[in-house]
Amino acid sequence: MKVLVTGGAGYIGSHAVRLLQERGHSVVVVDNLSYGHRSIVESTLRVPLYIVDIGNKEQIKNILQKENIEAVMHFSAYALVGESVTHPAKYYENNVQQTLNLLEVMRECGVLKIIFSSTCATYGVPAEIPICEICPQFPINPYGSSKLMVEQILRDFDAAYGMKFVSFRYFNAAGAHPLGDLGEAHSPETHLIPLILDAAAGRREDIKVFGQNYETPDGTCVRDYIHVMDIAEAHLLGLEYLANGGTSDFFNLGNGTGFSVLEVIEMAKKVSGKEFKVSMAARREGDPPVLVGSSDKVRRVLAWKPQFENLEKIMSDAWNWYHKGKAKLET
Ligand SMILES: NC(=O)c1ccc[n+]([C@@H]2O[C@H](COP(=O)([O-])OP(=O)(O)OC[C@H]3O[C@@H](n4cnc5c(N)ncnc54)[C@H](O)[C@@H]3O)[C@@H](O)[C@H]2O)c1
Repeated sequence: MKVLVTGGAGYIGSHAVRLLQERGHSVVVVDNLSYGHRSIVESTLRVPLYIVDIGNKEQIKNILQKENIEAVMHFSAYALVGESVTHPAKYYENNVQQTLNLLEVMRECGVLKIIFSSTCATYGVPAEIPICEICPQFPINPYGSSKLMVEQILRDFDAAYGMKFVSFRYFNAAGAHPLGDLGEAHSPETHLIPLILDAAAGRREDIKVFGQNYETPDGTCVRDYIHVMDIAEAHLLGLEYLANGGTSDFFNLGNGTGFSVLEVIEMAKKVSGKEFKVSMAARREGDPPVLVGSSDKVRRVLAWKPQFENLEKIMSDAWNWYHKGKAKLET
């Protein structure tokens, strides 16, 4: 298929581009490079890159038509939870309004298949663990709300125009491509694993653990980490599902196993062979003790089977990237 990947210069999108190429699909990337990396698309992945906002209707329409696009994988968004609280308009404009423009143009051009990056943040503080797709969705920040709004728009576009979608609610994306040439390089970085690896590499003084008295086995927060390659694989399965006439649906994407902050830190020490300072700090407001998703539905419906489930693999791939691709990106 001919697939347009929005946000393909970013962390998860770049891995999906690689897998699409490997499976014989033809790919073009649209990214405004607000966070993504030009060299990843042009030098590492070597696919056409259009540097444009996804909300730019005229240009997106030209691209869809000129490139004969058949489906869209929509990764582009702003994803800094804290910033979304202080600058909500920025999040609703970029994540909701611009997505609406993209969807309108897709409809006009007859491109009626989309895979959307939603998030576990749409659940807010979960009513039960593991979280399943029918659990109530009450986001506690504008980032989560912006994604939930897009989920509703997708439902409505399907009902009105027959636009078919697969919406994946990811838990914590982690790890990197096993070759070490694709991975996570956010600036500013807010994700736990890259921050820990910065500490292991001596680029941060310490790593802070927020809260040690939660009702979890070791008192620290537990999160569900999913290898980025397993997320990319799910996208390929989602595409196949829609191509075969599958109905629109929502799926959690997590590995179903939680790891505590201290477990992740210990694994970072093991894979890096480095010791670093760990500082204890007060709880952060709005941090639920445990966020773990059930991925039973995606396993059942899409026959998705994560290949990189164990924490050691996730951390060693992330550490490999840290020294190879990420170091190169920074020079
Ligand atoms: N990383 C995670 O753990 C995680 C978890 C849940 C959901 N998600 C979602 O997955 C998607 C990808 O996340 P990521 O970690 O790869 O983020 P990322 O920031 O690395 O990638 C997003 C890309 O989108 C681009 N972009 C943003 N706004 C744009 C716009 N208006 N027009 C064109 N390009 C634009 C950025 O330049 C960037 O390259 C996002 O939608 C995010 O909300 C990520």
